[in-house]
Amino acid sequence: MAGGAIVSTGAPKDYPGKLTLFVFFTSVVAATGGLIFGYDIGISGGVTTMDPFLLKFFPAVYRKSKEDHGTNQYCSFDSQELQMFTSSLYLAALIASFFASAVTRMFGRKWSMFGGGITFLVGATLNGFAKDILMLILGRILLGIGVGFANQSVPVYLSEMAPARLRGMLNIGFQLMITIGILTANLINYGTSKIKGGWGWRVSLGLAAVPAGIITLGSLFLPDTPNSLIERGHADKAMRMLRRIRGTDDIHAEYNDLVAASEEAKLVKHPWRNIVARKYRPQLTMAILIPFFQQLTGINVIMFYAPVLFKTIGFGGNAALMSAVITGLVNVFATVVSILTVDKLGRRKLFLQGGSQMLACQIIVGTLIAIKFGTSGEATLSKTYSAFVVLFICVYVAGFAWSWGPLGWLVPSEIFPLEIRSAGQSINVSVNMLFTFLIAQAFLTMLCHMKFGLFYFFGGWVLIMTTFVSLFLPETKNVPIEGMVLVWKAHWFWGKFIADEDIHVGRDIEMAKGISKAGSK
Ligand code: BGC
Repeated sequence: MAGGAIVSTGAPKDYPGKLTLFVFFTSVVAATGGLIFGYDIGISGGVTTMDPFLLKFFPAVYRKSKEDHGTNQYCSFDSQELQMFTSSLYLAALIASFFASAVTRMFGRKWSMFGGGITFLVGATLNGFAKDILMLILGRILLGIGVGFANQSVPVYLSEMAPARLRGMLNIGFQLMITIGILTANLINYGTSKIKGGWGWRVSLGLAAVPAGIITLGSLFLPDTPNSLIERGHADKAMRMLRRIRGTDDIHAEYNDLVAASEEAKLVKHPWRNIVARKYRPQLTMAILIPFFQQLTGINVIMFYAPVLFKTIGFGGNAALMSAVITGLVNVFATVVSILTVDKLGRRKLFLQGGSQMLACQIIVGTLIAIKFGTSGEATLSKTYSAFVVLFICVYVAGFAWSWGPLGWLVPSEIFPLEIRSAGQSINVSVNMLFTFLIAQAFLTMLCHMKFGLFYFFGGWVLIMTTFVSLFLPETKNVPIEGMVLVWKAHWFWGKFIADEDIHVGRDIEMAKGISKAGSK
């Protein structure tokens, strides 16, 4: 039988065991993969506003930004080269994530993390010592490969190590590390921009070696997950590992399910062909649309270009970096809110509330900028006026940080049945990277042409995605992954894609009742 089968024949159950210190520490180490991703996101925006950096690598942009002073602010940073610098990393990550999924499967999650860390380390070194644009871009491509490997393996590793009932919380731990990485990078940029002598940017780029060193060394001490050990034929080792990470000898139920899951997955020879089957249409749609929508919130316009953006709307270089630090702090703290609420309020409430909050802020910020800059792009903002712009940008970031930020990674990871889970996850990662790339590549040109309308453009997308969630995304909180098919079956729209025979017998009737109640919307 190809696909559709549920591994455990009984009701999905919570296995015995607790969150051991061992699992906690291995998860913290593994989650530093999020740190390197975040550091990247945060560092380039600040570096590209540093005059010595622009002068050395992008002299034309530097001259233009000086000449244009006082004229059209929207276009002063518009440069293909500058965009290529920021976005090359994501293209490299997109391609690398396909290779990473093979390494992760054949050699284990640990070596994928190690490979990512080492590549990232070399990239950071090249960037820190960069003499010309070639070294700079080459370094950035290596960083991208590192991110591709880390983003493929870390979330999988965390999910497999975590006890089932804490999987959501640990998953958002990855996003928390991303936000801490972004904040650290913003703080470092703030400090290095003050360095006299014009080499501050080298410190910013070179310090990426620190999180890289942590994940590279850390991964050497990480054990591989029981799932991966079984998959690679080390059954005894897997059983010992499971005992150790769950802190109990009572692991047989979970162990048997892991073995069964692995057997079941082996039956599916072509997960990529399988995933297009009609019964997987809901999951496939989400695997494509959720990362697409996450990027179309426009968050990375703020994350990559906050300093440029703030400089554009009339803040000085220093004030611009400072504002980026403030948005970075808001990003971290609002992510904690999501960790604390996601399993109580549920995913839908966070999506709908966060989406409405982002939409309102985008309309307000667009309008505030339109009033002052109009279409000519000429204006200077008073302190109070600027403070209002920053305030609403922060409220927007908070909305993202407890909705699309963490849920953009969590929801796709929990909706796939086992047999298409890894294929689905690859689609999620690559769509995310593709649109991160496209937005990073297009933003400065879009700002130049769409002006304040850019905020309305992303606002329009937020309206579309919020409506989409409200109509098409069922609630998945507290639903065991193995029972997820019932959520789709109970949904008013997706239900018709799933035939009765796609739902397997042997399920606990109580669970089915509970799910149709929780998932009917
Ligand atoms: C997104 C990134 C974004 C970050 C901001 C992540 O979930 O994938 O693109 O920069 O959140 O915190």
